[in-house]
Amino acid sequence: MLDKFPSESHLVHAALTAREHAHAPFSKFRVGAALEDETGRVHTGCNVENATYGLTICAERVAVFKAVSEGARRFRRIAIAADTDELTPPCGACRQILWEFCGDIEILLCNPRGKSETLQLKDLFPRAFDVSFL
Ligand code: THU
Repeated sequence: MLDKFPSESHLVHAALTAREHAHAPFSKFRVGAALEDETGRVHTGCNVENATYGLTICAERVAVFKAVSEGARRFRRIAIAADTDELTPPCGACRQILWEFCGDIEILLCNPRGKSETLQLKDLFPRAFDVSFL
């Protein structure tokens, strides 16, 4: 019987494929993300840049906001793909958003040459500010 959850390589492949859609004419730095929800559905995102620069949105946040906008609320893990030898971690703003919507999610960093690494968000983003302080 097929597992209803995507394999690690499926999630990595989805992030690498999403990266192909990146709109990064200014930085040329293309990023893809694939976020797996509690049902096994995969929500993808890519970075979308803007001529003002400041309105640029990262691949991770596109994936989270797409997922939330379609009703997903609980998440299992996220793959993040960029073409760097030292694997690219999520930026600070994305760490905050990931923490808020996904909690201590598993993070799979990967590149197109088959390198990957698994991390936990709590190790990348210790002592986070969140709703528990409000
Ligand atoms: N970028 C992401 O999409 N995710 C990250 O975690 C790091 C940075 C994008 C934003 C911008 O379009 C480009 O990479 C360069 O910063």
